[in-house]
Amino acid sequence: MESKENIVFLGMMGSGKTTIGKLVSKRLNLNFFDTDQNIEDEQNMKISKIFKEKGESFFRELEEKTTLNILKKKNTVIAIGGGAFLNKNIREKVLTNSLSIWLKWKDEILLERIKKSFKRPLAVNSSKKELLNMIKKRSGIYSKALYNIDCNKLTKDQLVNEIVNIYEANKVNS
Ligand code: S3P
Repeated sequence: MESKENIVFLGMMGSGKTTIGKLVSKRLNLNFFDTDQNIEDEQNMKISKIFKEKGESFFRELEEKTTLNILKKKNTVIAIGGGAFLNKNIREKVLTNSLSIWLKWKDEILLERIKKSFKRPLAVNSSKKELLNMIKKRSGIYSKALYNIDCNKLTKDQLVNEIVNIYEANKVNS
């Protein structure tokens, strides 16, 4: 297999990309980047405020620029925003350069986690039906990730172990 430079976590809001990404990066002793955090740091503004004051398309432009920049790094663990993989440029880069991992959960679990998340404008401003449609539509795209991990029956430790094993196996094969 072609050598992959980074581990990239993708998936819906609330799927644990940042939490699991940080744990995996610690285990592998690699740096961790969260693209949303970088956007907030660069803009000195919370994502919810960027959406509210500048609009979603402005956010999506920032998201593309910041994410493509972070993807230039090597040997890092990266959590990208829930909508980032829908962007063709980001998706192509992730799929060629990274060990991409979709953290896949049952709809009910995702809904439960995001419904009261005020830091997530799309979650707050969408109905349950709209969120279910979003999950359905996005799942087809997320499934292009190299690894689709069904997280529903795994503990956090098991999930981290599985990803560390995937990484080690890819290192051996590359
Ligand atoms: C978004 C997900 C958020 C953030 C923004 C938009 C999305 O990131 O990028 O609110 O479109 O799904 P998380 O997936 O980290 O919550």
